[in-house]
Amino acid sequence: MSAGDEPVAAPSGLERRLGLHALRVALFDRPVPAGLSWWHTLGSATMAVFLVQLVTGIVLAMFYAPSPDHAYDSIRHLEQQVAAGRVLRGMHNWGASAMVILTMLHMVRVFAMGAYKYPREANWVLGVGLLGLVLAFGFTGYLLPWDQRAYWATQVGASIAGTAPWVGGALATLLKGGSQLGAATLTRFYALHVLWLPAAVGVLIALHIAMVIRQGIAASPRVLEDGAPDRTDDPSYPAHHDAAYLASKRSGARFWPDIIAKDVVVATVVIGLLILLAITRGAPLEAPADPTDAAYVPMPEWYFLPFYQLLKLFPGSMEATIAVGVPALLVLTLVGLPFFDRNSKRHLRGRPVAMLSLTVLIGGSALLLGAAVREMGSVVAVESSRVLTSTERAGRASFERQCASCHLVAGSGGEEGPELTGVGARHSTAWLHSFIENPLRFHPDSKMSAFGPPTLSHQEIEEIARYLGTLRGPPGRELKVMIVDTFPEPSPPP
Ligand code: HEC
Repeated sequence: MSAGDEPVAAPSGLERRLGLHALRVALFDRPVPAGLSWWHTLGSATMAVFLVQLVTGIVLAMFYAPSPDHAYDSIRHLEQQVAAGRVLRGMHNWGASAMVILTMLHMVRVFAMGAYKYPREANWVLGVGLLGLVLAFGFTGYLLPWDQRAYWATQVGASIAGTAPWVGGALATLLKGGSQLGAATLTRFYALHVLWLPAAVGVLIALHIAMVIRQGIAASPRVLEDGAPDRTDDPSYPAHHDAAYLASKRSGARFWPDIIAKDVVVATVVIGLLILLAITRGAPLEAPADPTDAAYVPMPEWYFLPFYQLLKLFPGSMEATIAVGVPALLVLTLVGLPFFDRNSKRHLRGRPVAMLSLTVLIGGSALLLGAAVREMGSVVAVESSRVLTSTERAGRASFERQCASCHLVAGSGGEEGPELTGVGARHSTAWLHSFIENPLRFHPDSKMSAFGPPTLSHQEIEEIARYLGTLRGPPGRELKVMIVDTFPEPSPPP
């Protein structure tokens, strides 16, 4: 070795053994194109939430018992007895929605900036695969608490799969692990949720990120468009693109610290939001699954609602076609996108078809989601967006017939009596039952007449009382439950 190329400092022992310097340069110290926006943080934010799901999921798994006899109780135990159990489960629950939202937003960003075009076609396809896995995580995770909504939403999912032509029956059986939704289904979903899917996502994420590092983050659409041939399959396109890309990286922006800083800010905000939602709203847990309650109105997780609503628009034989056709078409379009779209324009303004498709897809989904939510509104408790049980729904129907003329609930009804939007937070169902039966025992000059038999049967009164018990205040502003029941003195024996 000549004197000139002596290293400045001798490498440390660790460096000599592991060569970490090269890794650090490859991962962090790479140049990036100028002008990356906040939109570019969505991918890493998704990754951050995935890590939250991984950590919270591992802890949840330590408390969860994957059998129909114990699943529900194990979740309730976690919620009520384990320190921070409720918050942990809340984070995992909200994290699932965040994964779906962030993955989709990230895809919209990549789509809108044309970043799936040369040379990143394969990475787009990996991303589509990741979206599929995220949805599969959501679907399998939904069943695990084994409450009413879990059971019935999965029942719906399996029956939708069952409508597929030729393979439908086999598909439904495969999902359920038999002909019935039961212990075999739960075991299967649990194994998918905690073993198969994390492994698959891990592999795809590793590949996805490795490709991003290898290929670099796509430069701004304008830079890559300038002077480019019209089509990316033009033989001269790659040379043009690569030169423009190289030039865009000469601005001096570096992954560390320029990009990382934004990523950390966004990830912190997102995780903070998850914690806040987990603390204030928790995660829903309804009554334990009751396979005999056929009157239960199933409600899939919100991100499946647009599809669910679409199916409702096509009853009968069309439904099977839509059930299979729409997802299949969507997958084919997404996977095929970078291969049939060879237009070299990247900015959305130069891509009318892309702009239109995006608008139709987002607008259509929003309309369907809105319609589904409106329809759900008629079966959902005012206070917690919890789905009402069949008893509570029967109670609400009677209430609307007999009581709504005098009592306001969530903005509709008469005003002769007091508003009852928060009555469930103030009174027990037992108190409500005896009050409805005969208010005069409570207030001798009550303006509300007695509804006891023969006007209403005890069962009807009990249903109304149960329904009123669900009213805990206006949505988002639930009252603290503080039961203050004063019963009248029992009349002295004669
Ligand atoms: C004719 C009007 C009228 C009808 C119909 C009516 N209520 Fe009332 N309700 C009142 C009035 C007025 C009060 C106020 C207390 C009183 O006068 O005893 C009241 C009080 C109540 C309360 C007590 C609220 C509280 O916070 O203390 C409940 C609960 C209640 N009504 C439920 C019902 C139910 C359930 C029905 C239908 C089965 C019904 N009401 C039908 C007029 C009515």
